[in-house]
Amino acid sequence: MSAHGDPIPMKSSACGPLTGIAEVPGDKSISHRALILGALCIGKTKIDGLLEGQDVLDTAKAMRAFGAEVTDHGAGSWSVQGVGVGGFAEPEGVIDCGNSGTGVRLIMGAMATSPIVASFTGDASLNGRPMARVTEPLSAFGCRSVGRSGGRLPMTLVGATEPMPVRYVVPVPSAQVKSAVLLAGLNAPGKTVVIEAEATRDHTERMLAGFGAEITIEETDEGREITLTGRPELQAQHIVVPRDPSSAAFPVCAALVVPGSDVLVPGIGLNPTRAGLFTTLREMGADLSYENEREEGGEPVADLRARFSPDLEGIEVPPERAASMIDEYPVLSVVASYARGRTVMRGVKELRVKESDRIDAMAAGLRANGIEVEDGPDWWTVTGAGHGGVAGGATCASHLDHRIAMSFLILGMAAQKAISVDDGGPIATSFPIFESLMQQLGAQIVRLRA
Ligand code: S3P
Repeated sequence: MSAHGDPIPMKSSACGPLTGIAEVPGDKSISHRALILGALCIGKTKIDGLLEGQDVLDTAKAMRAFGAEVTDHGAGSWSVQGVGVGGFAEPEGVIDCGNSGTGVRLIMGAMATSPIVASFTGDASLNGRPMARVTEPLSAFGCRSVGRSGGRLPMTLVGATEPMPVRYVVPVPSAQVKSAVLLAGLNAPGKTVVIEAEATRDHTERMLAGFGAEITIEETDEGREITLTGRPELQAQHIVVPRDPSSAAFPVCAALVVPGSDVLVPGIGLNPTRAGLFTTLREMGADLSYENEREEGGEPVADLRARFSPDLEGIEVPPERAASMIDEYPVLSVVASYARGRTVMRGVKELRVKESDRIDAMAAGLRANGIEVEDGPDWWTVTGAGHGGVAGGATCASHLDHRIAMSFLILGMAAQKAISVDDGGPIATSFPIFESLMQQLGAQIVRLRA
């Protein structure tokens, strides 16, 4: 089943060169945060370039349920009339975050220090994912929660009536956990401190500073220490969302493996906490360049140019780079399949608790298409078949995971036989125009049933 309807089986076949300009949608992480912080400030925040994927639309709906006025002005232009820090109203119904771990975890943080009760649910994928990693630190603020066994959704949170600030060392590299704690800290008096051993995406910190919160970051022996002063008056902003590097990854990787390709992917956010894939691809020998490097809305941005790269080599991806490319391992494993030699990916335990177990999901589909994969609890390796060497021919399960579905469709673009996915529906959660954009570049993707 797709996230919000019947399954959409899709097939991708070998195609001629991919050429042209790939305008990918706005950044998912930044879009969620813009809506949530817009809802927590006084005044009207204007957002341009919002990702209108299902995950973000579900967050927009949730912000309305908490009392913010969220308006879609068309063509990616939105506004949010906020209720102020501590101003969330109690939602009347259950908050359905669909497929989105980011949505539910950040929203839980944002309501945890308000004296309201809210219940959360999601689709089968989200309802299987761990939430204790968020409710545990939120309990230190005074927020109570009850959910299903294993700390899973559906779950109800009772926000703290007298929140206390918290000092929290994040035990797993997770921007969602870090962000949930910071958003909860907004309505706690005094200073909330979050420490992360490994730097994860820092959009929440950047955006909080942009909205006028007092936030400092210091490198300490324990790691990156973030200190937020609670109860600020956040000021409405105009946010221009850069295009999503995690979506850009798909046309970029497709261009690298399809003979003769030359694709320009303009305006991509290249925040160093997100750009690990592109560094890795260059180390593998990819013909990938950054053009027109600039800064937009406080984030570094460039146009990416990717060309067919017949001599890709497998590499060892440094484990300390994992957080900066955590969502890109599935598509990296596709590029690794077309490289010569072994690509080794270590320190990636978190891949097992994403929208699916991404190591299992990719290993199964790659093996079915003739690629050698080995895996362990926090590592996996892919032995490439080289350019022209991927057999293909199999149907892969996408497990309600957008990035798994898109990765296998990219794998099919240069394989000897076409590759199918059982359900491309989840692609709409993050990259609703994936199919048409890839077709415009020259990809042969078809739906097998309407
Ligand atoms: C995200 C953080 C990451 C990432 C997800 C988006 C965010 O999750 O996988 O797609 O926007 O904060 P974790 O925090 O679980 O690593």
